[in-house]
Amino acid sequence: PTASLTLDPAFSVGEVNPRLFGSFVEHMGRCVYTGIYEPDHPTADADGLRTDVLALIRELGVTMVRYPGGNFVSGYNWEDGVGPVEERPRRLEPAWKSTETNQFGLSEFMNFTRKTGIEPMMALNLGTRGVDDARRLLEYTNHPGGTELSDLRRRHGDEEPFDIRLWCLGNELDGPWQMGHKSAEEYGRLANETANVMRLIDPDLRLVACGSSSSAMSTFASWEATMLEHCYDRVDYVSCHAYYHERDGDVGSFLASAVDMEHFIESVVATADHVRARVRSSKRLEISFDEWNVWYQSREGEDPGWRVAPRVIEDVYSVTDAVVVGSLLITLLRHCDRVTAACLAQLVNVIAPIMTEPGGPAWRQASFFPFADAARHGRGRVLRLAGTSTTYETAKFGEVDHLHATAVEAEDGGLTVFAVNRDTEKPLRLTADLRGLGKARVLEHRVLADEDRHATNTLENQERVAPRQVSGTSCQDGTLTAELPPLSWNVIRVA
Ligand code: AHR
Repeated sequence: PTASLTLDPAFSVGEVNPRLFGSFVEHMGRCVYTGIYEPDHPTADADGLRTDVLALIRELGVTMVRYPGGNFVSGYNWEDGVGPVEERPRRLEPAWKSTETNQFGLSEFMNFTRKTGIEPMMALNLGTRGVDDARRLLEYTNHPGGTELSDLRRRHGDEEPFDIRLWCLGNELDGPWQMGHKSAEEYGRLANETANVMRLIDPDLRLVACGSSSSAMSTFASWEATMLEHCYDRVDYVSCHAYYHERDGDVGSFLASAVDMEHFIESVVATADHVRARVRSSKRLEISFDEWNVWYQSREGEDPGWRVAPRVIEDVYSVTDAVVVGSLLITLLRHCDRVTAACLAQLVNVIAPIMTEPGGPAWRQASFFPFADAARHGRGRVLRLAGTSTTYETAKFGEVDHLHATAVEAEDGGLTVFAVNRDTEKPLRLTADLRGLGKARVLEHRVLADEDRHATNTLENQERVAPRQVSGTSCQDGTLTAELPPLSWNVIRVA
């Protein structure tokens, strides 16, 4: 396999919004309990947060966290999670069939975001609840004081308003599995009315309308078109959710998952722009890809049976999965002109880059590394790549490029090329013409690859998979030359 690229600063896609490196904390399985919050853990701070996990979250570079769900939020009463902890109710949690103790709630989450320097993205229950609940929650979170709910927050110990700017108007309401599932008409009207009330209180909120739960939904694109006819001018983003996994050993199609993500983004952009023309709006909607990851839904285990914080969907990620995660990050970056927020779902234990044992250690999954690389070096301006790559045939997507890449120019002029070689057997020879950028020095070429593409990090072997530096990458007379190992995620930094 070979590929050649030309990069020129005159041609760019756009600036990367830091919100692209968001993640997701749902009250699901062990994401909250024994994930970020475990008061009895040896590393727990005075607020019960695991400081070993906080350190890994900082290292991961997460900028924003969506909370508290997910399917969970569509049956959640936020009042259950505020006020004195000992008075909070235990409730049946129907979305994941577990028992919610409510020992962790809004105030604890906001404390977590302050300690990690992460921006909160709050999801509203538009499943079993609606407009009035949104109004009340907003008064509780964002109003300084002097009203019933803002004073209640102050009595609960949070004197200052939380000032949450980003709000999801429900979760996956196109999905028949969702509590309070709706038609596109019903949802569009509800989203519009909810957004109206919220904007009457604070016109500057950023609001996300629920898009499709996957590109495979039978209502895909028509859902967006119909619901946006009702709420276009009152929302800022349309959400997208997508999960991928390897099926029946078809690694070639799996490695090309980004083809679907790209089709998803471009279809939603086209649909939103179509509605824009119909409603004669001057505003262009953005995309919030607020759930994305690799998830082996086929491996789902037994019924949790109403237990507290059961082990559910704790996928263990291989090097192959991590390379796909990297490839999906590349696609998000390549669409940074319209995708301005995104959340890797989820953050800890539940389909997550960070794993923990109750009372025990916390460690990095293989998928941790591409995310940390992108969050660290994917800041600045994404350049438009021109070039060619050899291709291979996939069962699912037809002919696909071996190379999947993007390049980001930082404010200090440094350039980072993120690249995936989808060939499972052979290295890919990459040449990139950087003459327009005047770059001459390779700072590093870091690779995530392994002779065993199924290699994972586990409790027993927490550092089996890790990135390594490779030598031999050069930049001469403005031409970058590199060899990308088979099935690999690559970060090449040039100054
Ligand atoms: O992230 C796991 C689940 O996937 C979320 O709760 C839901 O929104 C999606 O279907």
